Amino acid sequence: MSTKSLALTLVRPGTMELRQVFQDERLRPGELLVQVEYSSVQPLDGEMFNCSGMFADLQLPHVMGVEGVGVVLKSASDHVPEGARIAFLLRKFFNDDRHGTWQKRLVLDEKRAMILQVPPVVGLNQIAACTTSTAGGSRTTRSVEVAALAFLKPFAPQSQIIVSGACGAVGLAAMQLGALMGHKMVAFVRGPERASWLAKELADCGKVAVVDTAAEEWVRLASLLCSGESVAVGDHLEEAEHVCGGADGMVDGLGGEVLTLSAQYLLRVRATLVRFGGEELPSLEEPVQRLRLKVLRESVESFMTTSDAKERVEAAFAWIGDARYRPKAWHVASWSEAAECMKDQPTWTRFATQVKPGRIGRIILKFD
Ligand SMILES: NC(=O)c1ccc[n+]([C@@H]2O[C@H](COP(=O)([O-])OP(=O)(O)OC[C@H]3O[C@@H](n4cnc5c(N)ncnc54)[C@H](OP(=O)(O)O)[C@@H]3O)[C@@H](O)[C@H]2O)c1
Repeated sequence: MSTKSLALTLVRPGTMELRQVFQDERLRPGELLVQVEYSSVQPLDGEMFNCSGMFADLQLPHVMGVEGVGVVLKSASDHVPEGARIAFLLRKFFNDDRHGTWQKRLVLDEKRAMILQVPPVVGLNQIAACTTSTAGGSRTTRSVEVAALAFLKPFAPQSQIIVSGACGAVGLAAMQLGALMGHKMVAFVRGPERASWLAKELADCGKVAVVDTAAEEWVRLASLLCSGESVAVGDHLEEAEHVCGGADGMVDGLGGEVLTLSAQYLLRVRATLVRFGGEELPSLEEPVQRLRLKVLRESVESFMTTSDAKERVEAAFAWIGDARYRPKAWHVASWSEAAECMKDQPTWTRFATQVKPGRIGRIILKFD
């Protein structure tokens, strides 16, 4: 017996069609038939849409989508009952002869996806905003919430943690979740608009400070916030070689000068530096050695295999129910708009696009 479904199918680079597909309802052990309610559009989807970068040799036709949220219509799983509201993140999402999640009805295999239960009081649209994916290393994607939890895991309770790119998807999740866990969070953003937006947005999350790294003298301000020895006003930074800060660590996906200056002036001795992006930086070697910093390169993979990963992600869903964790989406698009959302649009278009400069958060796709 099979059930009819509709699937957003990439047929050629830059061309997607809504195709009718048939899902076999005779489920094998561990499989679920799911009605998909929401997914999201993220930068890697744009790359797949254009068959560029890591998708240059993508086998077509291919149903797109990496993650989603929905309701279980039928279950052959011992863990997930029929009627459950779930979020699902595919572990492998292309070139494995299976398709992605952008379909109205989907057969999901427990082995192929991380499956998370959504509490009854939490909206599926909100869960879609926090399970939206972000590019990971080695041909993987990760939910921004999973990535943020993984990058925060190395820190002891009540640490002071700097997060760069704090208006980015991972940065914003790390800021909110870190503050809710009881850490003292310091956000680095660029520009006064982002700084004031973020300060307001996170006002009730916990201990949060925001620094605009586009402002002059930002290192001095940050050093005062990071409760170490501050760089005295009037000192030249380059002369202040022996200054170190008091922050317990930093979560950084960007690299560059902001990271080097933070390591030089804001982190304490033996602080933890979690790097999940950015190039190798020769200028980091000196502060890393001088302060004996512990540098960790991406820990999402190992986090996913830890026994409590699922529990931690579901606990964060409960914060959404309390309205304390507010994942950010800036637009809800119908799935017929999905292709437009991945294109670079002219300024006069009526379509929302994920490549729009200045956006904060992701576009959610609604499968109605
Ligand atoms: N290794 C892993 O496992 C892993 C996991 C997740 C993500 N990643 C990588 O981490 C990066 C961030 O991911 P995301 O999903 O959070 O991306 P995103 O939503 O696009 O956010 C990127 C953020 O970085 C900021 N930014 C970009 N270029 C900058 C620059 N030159 N100077 C200062 N700030 C800059 C942006 O600032 P504005 O807000 O001012 O535009 C934005 O806030 C990506 O490169 C992704 O591939 C790696």
